[in-house]
Amino acid sequence: MNIEIFPDVGAEVTGVDLRKLSTAEFEQVRTAFDQNGLLFFRDQHLSEDDHIALAERFGRINVNRFFAAHADYPQIALVTKEPEQKANIGGGWHTDHSYDHEPALGSILVARELPPAGGDTAFVSMYAAYDALSSGLKQTLERLRAVHSARHIFGAALDEEYAAAMKGRIGNPTAADQLSDPIHPVVIRHPLSGKKALYVNPAFTLRFDGWTKEESQPLLDYLYSVATADERVHRFKWRPGSIAFWDNRATWHFAQNDYQGHLRIMHRITVDGCALAAAS
Ligand code: SIN
Repeated sequence: MNIEIFPDVGAEVTGVDLRKLSTAEFEQVRTAFDQNGLLFFRDQHLSEDDHIALAERFGRINVNRFFAAHADYPQIALVTKEPEQKANIGGGWHTDHSYDHEPALGSILVARELPPAGGDTAFVSMYAAYDALSSGLKQTLERLRAVHSARHIFGAALDEEYAAAMKGRIGNPTAADQLSDPIHPVVIRHPLSGKKALYVNPAFTLRFDGWTKEESQPLLDYLYSVATADERVHRFKWRPGSIAFWDNRATWHFAQNDYQGHLRIMHRITVDGCALAAAS
C-alpha cells in the first residue's frame, strides 16, 4: 500500500482493494484517515454490500434522515442530480452533521454515474484553517462556542424555491423541526488525531453562543475566507471507481455544480461520531 499525502489536504491511498482489506491494511488505512482526515481511492469496485461492509469497519452507520435513500439499501444516501435538475446537493462549503449533538465521524462517497466533465468535489482542511490564524485570534476562538442547526436547510422554514429544486432528493421538515440546535466548541481537540481544528461551517453554523447573528457573521465570514483560501483547496476529479472518505470534524467539502444537462449519482454512507471536546 502507498499513501501519498497532499500539501493542501488529504491523501491518496493506492495498492489496496477496499473489498478485501486485511486487518493490517485496515489499520494502515485507519491510521491514515485519523491523521489526514481525508482519503481518496481510485479504481475500486465496491458493490452496495461492499460499501456498507467497509463503512461498518469504521463504526455504526448513520441512516440519513434528510436525503433520499437507495431503494434497496436504506444505509446508502443518494446524492443525485438528474440532467434536467439545476440545483445540486452539497453545492456550497459545509461539513455534514454539525447540526447533531454527536456529529458524524465521516462519510464514504462512491461515484456511480459521472458527467463527462466537471462535478469535482473541493475539500479544505480545518486543521489548516486553524493553523493559519494569528495566536491572538486562536486564543479568542478557543473560548467560544457556536450554535449549529439544520432546520433552515432541511426544515419547514426552507426557502420555497430551494425546497422545490430539492424535492424528492433532500428535506424532511418533521425530522428537522424536532432537532434541538447543538452548541459545539469553535476550536475542537480532534477526537482521532488530537490536533486542534476549527469547527464552524457556512451551511450549519448560525452564530457564536451568547452573540447575535449580526455580531457573529463578520467574524464567521472572516474565518470562512481563511479556510477556503485558494492555496488550501484540493479539487478531487472523480473517475469511475473513485472513492472519497472524509472526516467531518477535520474537513469541509463543496460539490461543484458545473455539469448542467448531465447525470451525476453518488452513493454516500455516513458513520456515527461522538460529542466534541474543546481544544483547551
Ligand atoms: C456531499 O456534500 O455530501 C456530496 C458531495 C459530492 O457530491 O461531491
